[in-house]
Amino acid sequence: VFVPKSAGEVRHLFTIAHRGASGYAPENTIYAFDKAVEMKADYIEIDVQRSKDGKLVIIHDTTVNRTTNGAGAVKDLTFKELQRLDAGGWKGKHFSGAKIPLFEEVLARYKGKIGILIELKSPGLYPGIEEEIVNKLKQFNLDKHKKIIIQSFNFKSMKKMKQLLPDVQIGVLVSKKKNTTEQAIKDFSSYADYYNPSFELLTDDMVRTAKEEGMKVLSWTVRSPEAADFLLSYNIDAVATDYPDYVLLQ
Ligand code: G3P
Ligand code: CA
Repeated sequence: VFVPKSAGEVRHLFTIAHRGASGYAPENTIYAFDKAVEMKADYIEIDVQRSKDGKLVIIHDTTVNRTTNGAGAVKDLTFKELQRLDAGGWKGKHFSGAKIPLFEEVLARYKGKIGILIELKSPGLYPGIEEEIVNKLKQFNLDKHKKIIIQSFNFKSMKKMKQLLPDVQIGVLVSKKKNTTEQAIKDFSSYADYYNPSFELLTDDMVRTAKEEGMKVLSWTVRSPEAADFLLSYNIDAVATDYPDYVLLQ
């Protein structure tokens, strides 16, 4: 929720801390998620993948190369090997020693404190990951929770997710123009609750169509105050941002 500069009325909008408050702390770590809670974002966004030995872990890239001091594909490393890596030092010395979090660790720590937007990152690499996510959400009584959203660029996976979890909100991540036509938006609305276009694709018509089809619109990613101004000039429902304050302090 924020108050627009010019108007005076309160605008209801979800602020989603993208990979946590990742402008201020190493993405997809407890540091970034705690910072998002402290900044009063509405949701943290987390990217979920799977280790070689079947643990669900939170990391964006399909390799550990960019965000840790290690090398290799996430799917080829065991959880023990992933745990040995430093996932914070690249963002600043004082973050050294941050670990790649486990999915259930994030559910346990943030349940009831902040909403959780779960992205299935490259689920094609991890057959059966949808069922594993469902089982974990059930374990934490989050399988019907209002402040859980699941999203992916993989539409087939999201269709499956809606069948497995009809009470959880599902989002489709859209970065290609062909997925912005009226027909494409209508097709998405048969299983998605959120239509999530990259900000480069935003148009008023698209937002109107998605809403007419009963979906909410979430756009991404704010990395500057100017980008916040731009995104918020559209009638969208939620914004993913590396800097929650750029949105919350509008
Ligand atoms: O929430 C939108 C965003 O997370 C999608 O892109 O690459 O940051 O996972 P990416
Ligand atoms: Ca993401």
